[in-house]
Amino acid sequence: MSLFELVKFNSLGDVRGELVSMENNKEIPFEIKRVYLLMKSNPNLKRGFHAHLKLRQVLVCISGSCKITLDNGKNRETRVLNNYLEGIKVDHFLWREIFDFSNDCILMVLASELYDETDYIRDYNEFKRIINGSNS
Ligand code: TYD
Repeated sequence: MSLFELVKFNSLGDVRGELVSMENNKEIPFEIKRVYLLMKSNPNLKRGFHAHLKLRQVLVCISGSCKITLDNGKNRETRVLNNYLEGIKVDHFLWREIFDFSNDCILMVLASELYDETDYIRDYNEFKRIINGSNS
């Protein structure tokens, strides 16, 4: 089974231009408490390199493209994000690495919780240890 769970958005655009809507507990499978944008990202640098204890997210590449690797401690999978009608659901206990940003990449992240540094697992070995002792 793929580590990538996709969320589809409808295009509500018409002759005036594109319109895409995302609602709490509909397309987005949680209450959105925080939105952040990754943009003007250095195409030569990778970011992420963490997992979360509790946080759930949906990532939507609303401009350009980037790649994301997900890792559940057993399997690793990489996918290109370049479609604003498709979100990637990233649940807790998934290690993520994001890279190969195009110059025009804007990655929008919808998050289920406010920013909380204590929710981060930033060490891959610690992530593996937690995953191996957890059924989540
Ligand atoms: P960081 O977690 O390093 O980003 P990434 O995991 O994508 O590489 O975040 C960079 C800085 O921004 C760090 O000091 C934490 C801060 N930050 C917030 O204050 N609020 C937020 O919502 C996020 C995502 C980060």
